[in-house]
Amino acid sequence: MADASEAIEEVAVSLTVNGKRQRGFVEPRTLLIHFLREQLNLTGAHIGCDTSHCGACTVELDGMSVKSCTVFAVQADGGTITTIEGMAAPDGTLSALQEGFRQMHGLQCGFCTPGMIMRAHVLLKENPDPSEEEIRFGIAGNLCRCTGYQNIVKAIQYAAAKLNGHAFQEAAE
Ligand code: FES
Ligand code: FES
Repeated sequence: MADASEAIEEVAVSLTVNGKRQRGFVEPRTLLIHFLREQLNLTGAHIGCDTSHCGACTVELDGMSVKSCTVFAVQADGGTITTIEGMAAPDGTLSALQEGFRQMHGLQCGFCTPGMIMRAHVLLKENPDPSEEEIRFGIAGNLCRCTGYQNIVKAIQYAAAKLNGHAFQEAAE
């Protein structure tokens, strides 16, 4: 029988989230997604599964896109995280990806969108000028039940074009 003496000890974590130093106490078993949502109230990242498939929980951790349901908060100790809440400029200007998702109608319910944008953000750093095939492969870790993906591909193409300094030209269908 568990008693109070067997309570799980919390450990201190300290990370930089969206440019701000954050500290907290977590159980070693606390998932990063729960730390972000429940302690830091960054509720953009979502939980869509319990098998690490959907990618709704994706955030940028030390330059990589990670599924934060599959990382313990303690593993991110000392790390640098960007969540969807950190994507718009301080003056409210949307990032190229956020703008692209709106312009190209790359979202409907919006549940996958924070993870999708964070993945696309890292994808465009890895590959600033991806082909359609590379985009589709590059977001294969992110599921969407609403859009059918087509407009998400266009949204990422829009953002890539904008970041590369030219206007987005939709491919003729
Ligand atoms: S919640 Fe589905 S992969 Fe993280
Ligand atoms: S917009 Fe609804 S799941 Fe992608």
